[in-house]
Amino acid sequence: MSDKIYIFDTTLRDGEQSPGCSMNTQEKMKMARQLEALNVDIIEAGFPIASDGDFEAVREISKTIKGCTIAGLCRATTLDIDRAFEALQYAAKPRIHVFIATSDIHLKHKLNKTREQVLEQSINAVAYAKKLTNDIEFSCEDASRSDIDYLCQIIEAVINAGATTINLPDTVGYALPQDYGTMISIIRGRVKNIGKAVLSTHCHNDLGLAVSNSIAAVVNGARQIECTINGIGERAGNASLEEFVMALKTRPDALPFHTDVKAEEIYKSSRLLSTLTGMMVQRNKAIVGANAFSHEAGIHQDGIIKSRMTYEIMTPESVGIKHSTLVLGKHSGRHALKKRFEELGYSLNPEELNNVYTEFTQLADKKKEILDEDLVAILNNKFDNDETSFTLSSLQVMTGTGVKSTAVVELSDGKETFVDSATGDGPVDAAYNAIERITKMNGQLTDYNIKSVTWGGDAVGEVVVKVIFNDVIFTGHAASTDIVTGSVEAYLQAVNRAISAKSAKSAEDPAIKKQANAV
Ligand code: KIV
Ligand code: ZN
Repeated sequence: MSDKIYIFDTTLRDGEQSPGCSMNTQEKMKMARQLEALNVDIIEAGFPIASDGDFEAVREISKTIKGCTIAGLCRATTLDIDRAFEALQYAAKPRIHVFIATSDIHLKHKLNKTREQVLEQSINAVAYAKKLTNDIEFSCEDASRSDIDYLCQIIEAVINAGATTINLPDTVGYALPQDYGTMISIIRGRVKNIGKAVLSTHCHNDLGLAVSNSIAAVVNGARQIECTINGIGERAGNASLEEFVMALKTRPDALPFHTDVKAEEIYKSSRLLSTLTGMMVQRNKAIVGANAFSHEAGIHQDGIIKSRMTYEIMTPESVGIKHSTLVLGKHSGRHALKKRFEELGYSLNPEELNNVYTEFTQLADKKKEILDEDLVAILNNKFDNDETSFTLSSLQVMTGTGVKSTAVVELSDGKETFVDSATGDGPVDAAYNAIERITKMNGQLTDYNIKSVTWGGDAVGEVVVKVIFNDVIFTGHAASTDIVTGSVEAYLQAVNRAISAKSAKSAEDPAIKKQANAV
């Protein structure tokens, strides 16, 4: 049997802290469940001291997800470690992840500490964390730009203090594969007690080399990879989970390693993350991009028809992209819909089926042929279990060139209906202003994303918005064949969330978060 590579997924920590990717607790829970279905080994659920939102998410994920190790990030201080363990204590398999910078650049300009001070702080932090739980990861931030002798010294010391995983981040994405592989190899050769810890990689993608560097590390003895779905993360992102996993699966001849990831869950994970964050995947993104398995050139199409092996090194089915043989349209019943969802890997209970069926029939009235992507979009946008304060009853817009757009919006709260109108810069802005007048919720739109999930004039558009209410960001998403309606429904979802989370407990405070991220 080949060596196993542990998959440490940091979508909910490094990924989530990057611009445009923030999620509230409910969204993180949804993603964590999907990561469990994907069968990653470790979920880094957040940085508990960074904000109340992060703390709550780590605690809720620890309480619910029992199939994976749950990690919480902390700086090398007792305050951070205590806060992390407070959230992690409910986990079946908790991991405290302590980090401190080890490069001279960071020591001098950021920490203003000597190497001796950082060494001592690291030993103390790991020894302190070890009293709380056994599974301790220690990260040498900016490892790839750290002095190798110092790196070896600190690694040996923290393993003696109880660290069980040693992570060597290429924090700024500076390393080349040969540098990064050599660093791992030197550490393996020189650190006497290295056999007591798992060596781990954490590669950023500033030069587009995160996955290549991770592979070079594995070849040289690393056995844990830190990565994210769709490669999200600080700046240019982290190593992409799907690319790393499929590289191992596709090239066992050159890479005799395996992971326990259920690759058929990859596409679902990717789609869910884009829906939750609004961070769309570029069309030509490896493995999960819309073009990853489409063949346009005549010669390629001819080859594919003769044998898929001519132009495909892996099948779309192997990452969970399924092609339907059954065409769904307005005459399809619940049974066909349920079956189709099952084929796509989603099992719906009767209530969920009813809910989605209503949406499906509305869509089928507008669109001749409903594609799998449409169904997934409907589903991902449907079940948020939010307390809904307002629903959209009707919307009329008047717009044109050289005139101010006007929108008339009718909302219902289940008991009463409310109608108001407003003008704005375009129909969407006008409708948002009308919603504001009705709900008295004054929001600031910070992000607006629209993407067509299928093609053609009747394509379904997926809209994701991020709106700040009282300094807290709320996300809203919706899918519709009408982009103005979709935009209004997405905004209304954000409004509803802000109303139901008035205490702002389940959301994150960007100001606090920013402060913690600046370490
Ligand atoms: O990039 C980095 O160095 C990190 C560490 C905190 C693990 O994210
Ligand atoms: Zn990072």
